[in-house]
This record gives sequence, structure tokens and C-alpha cells, in this order.
Amino acid sequence: MNILILGSGGREHAFALKLSESKKINQLFVAPGNAGTDKMAINININPVDFAAVKKTVLKNDINMVVVGPEAPLVKGIHDFFLADNDLKNIHVIGPKKDGAILEGSKDFSKQFMEKHNIPTAKYQSFTKDNLESGFKFLDTLSAPYVLKADGLAAGKGVLILNDLKEAKIELEEMVSNQKFGEASSTVVIEEFLKGIELSVFVLTDGISYKILPSAKDYKRIGEGDTGLNTGGMGAVSPVPFADKAFLDKVEELVVKPTVIGLQKDGIDYRGFIFIGLMNDNGNPSVVEYNVRMGDPETEAVLPRIKSDLYDLFEGVAKQNLHEKSFSVTSKIATTVMLVSGGYPEAYEKGEEISGFENIKESIVFHAGTNIKDNKVLTNGGRVMAITSLGDSIEEALENTYCSIEKIKFEKMNYRKDIGLDLL
Ligand code: AMP
Ligand code: GLY
Repeated sequence: MNILILGSGGREHAFALKLSESKKINQLFVAPGNAGTDKMAINININPVDFAAVKKTVLKNDINMVVVGPEAPLVKGIHDFFLADNDLKNIHVIGPKKDGAILEGSKDFSKQFMEKHNIPTAKYQSFTKDNLESGFKFLDTLSAPYVLKADGLAAGKGVLILNDLKEAKIELEEMVSNQKFGEASSTVVIEEFLKGIELSVFVLTDGISYKILPSAKDYKRIGEGDTGLNTGGMGAVSPVPFADKAFLDKVEELVVKPTVIGLQKDGIDYRGFIFIGLMNDNGNPSVVEYNVRMGDPETEAVLPRIKSDLYDLFEGVAKQNLHEKSFSVTSKIATTVMLVSGGYPEAYEKGEEISGFENIKESIVFHAGTNIKDNKVLTNGGRVMAITSLGDSIEEALENTYCSIEKIKFEKMNYRKDIGLDLL
């Protein structure tokens, strides 16, 4: 089996590492990959949304399965592209088709889906510039804080949470009339603010059965104590201590089952990951959002805890016999801390040399934004490396992670020193 992973982040390095442990795989390819995936796979420098280039890569390298990391190729329809092409239609794609990817591609669609299938979520209404006045009126019926979401993909920036009603109305108008987030905000979902603690639950499904992967908590803000700008994620912990069995049973009954059955009822043949962002409000789950892929950096905390062969699970997804596959998870706790470039998530420099990461034994070093030039590993993005350790307790895992981080150096390296501390 030859496998192609699409993407270039820590998530894709984690997929590559886990898949490289499978005896069933001959050769792994990652496109475009990073300096970490270069160690166990062949990197191919193409853009995952350039489907013609993906096709060429797949045919040239005898690829049997494509694992799609990020959402953009899925929302753009890469799975449909494969099915519609005579040369590609028998190659398995792990990731939903367009009709499933819209769960992430349109917040309005995902809210309608949840409403239709009785899946707990915040009360909402959607507005465009044509019914802006009704949007103002709907805001009047809510109490602060006000949650405004661009309907379409906005690189994780399309959600505004505002305390002031007047400001919320101004922002709504900016979004729908002045395209604050481009085309993505021509429709805006306004929803009730959900109280509680946030966590993510990941599901792998073949469209019929599913496996619930370990839960994780993501740390989205750049600053310690959850302050400052939102980022793609600064760290993760898996499992989430407050998500006990009683809560996760509720998540399965009230959210996971109705989601998978709802997809079936709506005729959506969904093969891939469902990432469910949840709020735990006093033991009751409510869905904040769906993503149609794994999270980053959550994947770097979740995959190292899975004991089963990941390729075997993917084969179950592709052949729709996932229910026959064994699935087990270690009870050890994983903590992941993201090392970022100084300035991120605003402007930052690339091309800084990274040292000290090669001989780390007590942690797994996942590359995110890195590349190789003249045999040197350089920073090549905002999020540079994700350092994961396993331990018998959060404290032990964190100690290993922060101890490893002390050995790693690059100019203006930044990271949060409080990952997981809120869970102790
Ligand atoms: P989303 O892109 O939908 O995940 O939203 C980004 C972040 O905004 C979430 O991770 C939450 O922290 C926050 N958020 C989104 N919707 C709500 C809501 N209805 N109530 C409270 N917080 C929310
Ligand atoms: N860490 C959040 C995400 O992957 O969307």
C-alpha cells in the first residue's frame, strides 16, 4: 500500500508517524509535508487544493489511499473529484465528499443539520444584507455576549464574541454588507452564547458505524490564562479530565449517534473524521461546531494515545467494515505544547534555524511549520513544532514536555507555559 497524506502541519506529521508504524504500508508520501514528514515519507511539493497536481502525484506514485488533513481540499470537493475521474475512482479517499464537508464549510448548514436532527446546540438565526434589520432585531432578543459567525471558511477568524449590543450591530453590518471576512461573511449566523468548558470529541466513521477517538482540550489563545488573539491552537491535552464516562456517554447518545444517523438519513455518505467542538455546561453537551477533519494540535495529543493500527482503521473506513476493526487507547495522558514564531498570530519571520530537537527522547517532536534548506531545519510558519509527551498524570506529561522544550532553540521562539494547568 502506498499512501498520500495531504497537508503540511503537525497534524499531518502525526498521521505520517502513526501510519509509518503499520506493517501494511510500503511507501508514505506527504504533500507538501515539512521537515518532520521528510524523515518517514517522501515529501511532494504541491498544493493540496491543486487537484490536477494531486492526480498526477497519485498516478505517478501508485498511490492506493489519500488521507486528507486540512478542510480546504474537502470543502472544494477532492473526494468528488476522485470519484468522477476514471483513473482515480478506485483510490480510497479518507475525508468526506462535498455534501459532508459542508458541515464545516457552512455554519448555517451545520446549524440547520443540528436543528433537524435534534442535536443540542445554541439557539440561532442566519442573516444576509437583505434582512439586516431582522438581524438587529434578533440581536435585541439576546443578551450579551453576542456571538456572530461568518457562514463560510474564514481560516479560524470568522467568529466574533462581543459584549456590547451596539458593537455587535456594527460588526454584523460590517460582515454582511462590507464583507469583513470576504464572501465567507455574506451570510452570518448569530447565536446564543454557550456557557461552560470547551472540549473536542473526534469520531472516525465509515458512514455506518463509528469509533469515538480520545477527547482533547485545545488552547486557542496566544497568551497565558487564555488571553490575547486567537490562534490555530497553542497546545492540547488528551483525555480531558472533566469529560468523565457519564458525560461522554451523553455525548455519544445525544450528539455522535444522531450525527452519524442524521448524515445517513440525509443521504450523505460520509467517510472520514468528524471533529465535534463541544461545550460542557454542567454535564450537558452542546455542539459549538463541526469540523470535517482532525484538529491541529489535538491530533498530536490524540494519535499517540491510539494503540490500534491507524491504516487498518482507514481501511475499515474505505471498505465500510469499520465495525470489524479493533480499537484501543492507552490510559496514559498526552500533553502537547506548540512552539510558535515570535509575533504569531500576527506578522512573524520565517527562515530561523531550529536546533536541539534531534535527540529528544522523552517527547515526540512533531514538525508543523518547518522546512529544510542546505541541510538545516528552518522555521517556515507561525506554528513551528508541537511537543507531545505521555505520562501517568497531566503533571508528569507536562514535566516531560516542558523539559524537552528547554532543549529546543530558534530565534524569537514563543510558547505558552500554562498548557494543562487549568485541568489540575
Ligand atoms: P467556532 O469557529 O465555531 O469553533 O468558534 C470559535 C470559538 O468561539 C469556539 O471555539 C468557542 O470558543 C467560541 N464560540 C463559538 N460559538 C460559541 C457560542 N455559541 N458560545 C460561546 N462560545 C462560542
Ligand atoms: N485546533 C483547532 C482546529 O484544528 O480547528
